[in-house]
Amino acid sequence: METLSRPSVIIGNWKMHKTLLEARAFVEGLLKNFHPNETKVGLAVPFTVIYPLVEETKGSSLLIGAQNMNDASEGAFTGEIAGHMLKEVGAHFVLLGHSERRRFYHEEDAFINRKIKRAVEVGLQPVLCVGETQAEYEAQQTQEVIERQVREGLKDIPHEQLQQLIIAYEPIWAIGSGHSATPEIAQEAHHFCRQVLAKVLSEELAQRIVIQYGGSVNPANARELLAQPDIDGLLIGGASLSLETFQQIVNDRYSKIQFEG
Ligand code: PGA
Repeated sequence: METLSRPSVIIGNWKMHKTLLEARAFVEGLLKNFHPNETKVGLAVPFTVIYPLVEETKGSSLLIGAQNMNDASEGAFTGEIAGHMLKEVGAHFVLLGHSERRRFYHEEDAFINRKIKRAVEVGLQPVLCVGETQAEYEAQQTQEVIERQVREGLKDIPHEQLQQLIIAYEPIWAIGSGHSATPEIAQEAHHFCRQVLAKVLSEELAQRIVIQYGGSVNPANARELLAQPDIDGLLIGGASLSLETFQQIVNDRYSKIQFEG
């Protein structure tokens, strides 16, 4: 089989952090010492700073994205934001189904599925977040949860629309806990996730789709996680808030996969 090319994609997820002033200062600092290489780097930022950061990063390869969106294109949905609005101001990607959205705002797989459909329709790259809780992990239900969230999330979406899809595997017990999954545990889950993608989509697409790991990634564990064959990138929460630690992870670059054709 041909050696497949999967770029590394590192995304910082700021969650509900950073004012416009803080966001600008961060990006200015990041771009001062930003060396384009085969790793793609993005920031999932609060809605209020998307547009100014898109302006600020013009001409660079740093990608700006959103952390959520609604599934409808417009309407009476107070407090919500539509995909095409994000696209209009220059967002490149959107996180969907993050565990904090599932947990605190009761987002279910069917809703997330509709959001993914809308995201691809408006030309936003969807990052589908999946992962099991501590209890599910202890009950050895990791694979069941991954399979359900991937299957339901991607239901009835034509394969050709999912060429840009990214999956982020984030075990909930590892998020913000300071205890990331070991590279072995993460690799096993990623490998399983790819098998599900092969079943749900196609083997070819499954080999192309970037699967990120998220959950207490820091400069000390990033490299070892990225060295796993099925870990193609990172979704970084806490460690993306500090310019120093994010820069350390991003600039500690290396080439993981040899591209052939
Ligand atoms: P964390 O968050 O890196 O702070 O664990 C990751 C995430 O929730 O995306």
